[in-house]
Amino acid sequence: MNTQRSALNRESRSPTETFDLGVGLGRSLVGGMSIGLIGPLGAGKTQFVKGIASGNAAPDSVRVTSPTFTLVQEYAGRLHLYHVDVYRLGGSAELVALGFDEFFTSDAAVVIEWADRVRDALPLDSLWVELRPTGETTRHLSFEPCGNSAHTCLEAFARSID
Ligand SMILES: Nc1ncnc2c1ncn2[C@@H]1O[C@H](COP(=O)(O)OP(=O)(O)O)[C@@H](O)[C@H]1O
Ligand SMILES: [Mg+2]
Repeated sequence: MNTQRSALNRESRSPTETFDLGVGLGRSLVGGMSIGLIGPLGAGKTQFVKGIASGNAAPDSVRVTSPTFTLVQEYAGRLHLYHVDVYRLGGSAELVALGFDEFFTSDAAVVIEWADRVRDALPLDSLWVELRPTGETTRHLSFEPCGNSAHTCLEAFARSID
């Protein structure tokens, strides 16, 4: 029997709820995994990453801000978390030139904002999360696992929020 879960959908009614969903995912991160975030400006991608960093037990002193101008930020925690925002990048080649492929080690996880712009640079095994604004303070989040690490992470996340 195929017990692998397919897409998971959740509604968020506030920035706090989006943060809390991120916390749950941050607790479920799997070493070496990749999380690709999709959604327009203001969808809540960075807010979601703040939650991931917190759930991954980053020290309180580490502040997560939008890396739009710095491209890559790193946060300590259970796993080393790389947060990449490719908004200002020309494309996948530029990302790879930054050493993107070297971020994927067994004691790290990588989360990418605007990941659909660099789809071919991401590992085939990636957890795709789309954040879609449905109102001023409401967002639809859809989680789609592609590959084993992504499935394992999403299973743990789903169990924790069920
Ligand atoms: N449900 C929600 N989830 C996330 N952000 C929300 C929500 N409702 C309102 N917001 C607001 O939307 C903005 C999201 O900003 P940000 O996380 O930087 O988006 P992005 O990184 O996708 O451009 C913030 O100002 C936040 O307060
Ligand atoms: Mg952002």
